[in-house]
Amino acid sequence: MDQDDITSDQVLNQQEANIEKTLRPQSLQQYIGQSKVKNQLQVYIQAAQKREEALDHVLLYGPPGLGKTTLALVIANELQVKLHSTTGPSIEKAGDLVAILSELQPGDVLFIDEIHRLPKNVEEILYSAMEDFYIDIVVGQGADAHAIHYPLPPFTLIGATTRAGQLSAPLRSRFGIIEHMAYYDENELMLIVKRSAQVLDIAIDDTGAQELARRSRGTPRVANRLLKRVRDFVQVAGQEKITAQNAASALDQLQVDNAGLDQVDRKLLLMMINLYQGGPLGLKTMAVNIGEEQETVEAVYEPYLLQRGFLKRTPRGRVVTAKAYQHLGINPPQKNGE
Ligand SMILES: Nc1ncnc2c1ncn2[C@@H]1O[C@H](COP(=O)(O)OP(=O)(O)OP(=O)(O)O)[C@@H](O)[C@H]1O
Ligand SMILES: [Mg+2]
Repeated sequence: MDQDDITSDQVLNQQEANIEKTLRPQSLQQYIGQSKVKNQLQVYIQAAQKREEALDHVLLYGPPGLGKTTLALVIANELQVKLHSTTGPSIEKAGDLVAILSELQPGDVLFIDEIHRLPKNVEEILYSAMEDFYIDIVVGQGADAHAIHYPLPPFTLIGATTRAGQLSAPLRSRFGIIEHMAYYDENELMLIVKRSAQVLDIAIDDTGAQELARRSRGTPRVANRLLKRVRDFVQVAGQEKITAQNAASALDQLQVDNAGLDQVDRKLLLMMINLYQGGPLGLKTMAVNIGEEQETVEAVYEPYLLQRGFLKRTPRGRVVTAKAYQHLGINPPQKNGE
């Protein structure tokens, strides 16, 4: 395709992609928050470099948008090695994995996103690749079939998942480094918002950054998305700077409330209150009643609502808390014995 064939849409997409790239921190130093994870990785990276070995395999898990993919990029950058990126569901056959593995140079990072969705037969090949850096592949058919022992260079597998519980025990046990990504606090998100505002070339004051940080569900991806939308509102209104006031008004229009709950969060809580007197409810019932996938409720909505204390887990299921009733301005039901 030559230059003339590129549509303006493609140019715009390209611009978006470039901005997305620049929003992503490139080094551990630029990577804001997750200090426990960062400090540990810093040590492991340095140690591996000193010994001139590949870094041990790393599993990153936690809710979406907290920076797992970004951290994988950062680790490869810090190690100064090439990053090969793929996803669990895209490796359909054993042969696909063999093709990817045969590209690896000593020390390279292979990043597998959504690693919990690797097909079983592919996962099994990964075991020996991870543990002893070889794969045995069977070629030929029937009487001609024979196994080839294929050595691999030492490499680092970085797996990312939002659902660590779905990972099989044999796969999980082959990761030497397992890191849980936690929600970001308000100060960290403020730093992320300010850095992104600089990249996006929009002025923002501390109060504006704080307003965005507070309503971003502890999640950098949400913070960056809301920042872009608030920028739209502010610029269209002919204002030059994002402040607490114009951010709050834009976020209200986006139906993100002052605890960072979006429409689906509120729908979930209201459904539990209106149809089930606040619970207890199983995940499946929750999902069905708001028309979402159970997986999404489990990985996206529930963790934040639990973390903010709007939902509580009990042995009989999830329950709406008094704090949630208060937040929504609804009187909690009077239950006997409470
Ligand atoms: N620590 C951070 N500092 C600054 N920006 C960050 C940080 N972590 C993530 N981001 C930004 O947030 C966005 C989402 O991050 P990323 O794609 O790495 O999340 P993820 O955990 O891989 O999500 P998913 O589970 O959906 O794949 C990116 O645009 C990235 O720039
Ligand atoms: Mg990702």
